Amino acid sequence: MKYAYGYYKKAADHILDIIKDQVEIGLVLGSALGGISDIIQDKVVIDYKEIPNFLMSTVESHAGKLIIGKIGDKKVVCMSGRFHYYEGYDFERLAVPIRVFKLLGVKKVILTNAAGGINTDYKPGDIMLIKDHIKLTGPSPVRGVNIPEFGDRFFDVSNMYTKQLREIAKEIGIREGIELKEGVYYFAVGPQFETPSEIKAMRILGGDAVGMSTVTEAITAAHCKIEVLGISLITNMAAGVLDQPVTTEEVDLEGRKAKEKMEKLITQIIYEI
Ligand code: HPA
Repeated sequence: MKYAYGYYKKAADHILDIIKDQVEIGLVLGSALGGISDIIQDKVVIDYKEIPNFLMSTVESHAGKLIIGKIGDKKVVCMSGRFHYYEGYDFERLAVPIRVFKLLGVKKVILTNAAGGINTDYKPGDIMLIKDHIKLTGPSPVRGVNIPEFGDRFFDVSNMYTKQLREIAKEIGIREGIELKEGVYYFAVGPQFETPSEIKAMRILGGDAVGMSTVTEAITAAHCKIEVLGISLITNMAAGVLDQPVTTEEVDLEGRKAKEKMEKLITQIIYEI
């Protein structure tokens, strides 16, 4: 069998041998958001390369390290650098990190990303809680022989981005004075940014922000019953919204500018979930 239970267990056992205790919360940091791992205390850092059966980052703005430590009294495992379909990984391969998280004990995962604003009420620097996603391209990350240790063959995804976690995030946003939008994340395969016509179509279909990550992780988490909170940083307006090209420079710049705000938000969320 291509990726059987033991495949994931080998990766998780290697990590557990190093860190000893189970972890509770998973954190995945998106493009240009890697600096957020600074909030983790008592760190153990493991290179993806050292973990058997794990994947390797090929994108410059993604570090390629697993960071295990504490935020407040919560044990967290953080992926500084994630994996994307556009790097050449099959969708099924993209299930690996979250299944490894599951075997480390993770119950809740926070998925962050940089995204382009489709909704014209949004502006760069805005933060959007993901209430749902649209993924109309490519197969499921949990396609293939079902692994019952992770979940059922067919599973519900109508509360994939857990409402209760979003409610907690919203309360924190109000308390800390961090404005939070709430919207639908539209998955694009990349690596090219979208055409203006694609963005128009995505808007008609109900997308508020567009990005090339997150959905495979959310689906894998839903399958193995990990609760998900998705947070998009709007780094640019999507193609055709403004009369200017979409560039990686603006994505990286907005990511760096939002570091403090995102750190504050994520820290408080982890304290309270
Ligand atoms: N499109 C797709 N992915 C992105 C964008 C975008 O405009 N901005 C940041 N990630």
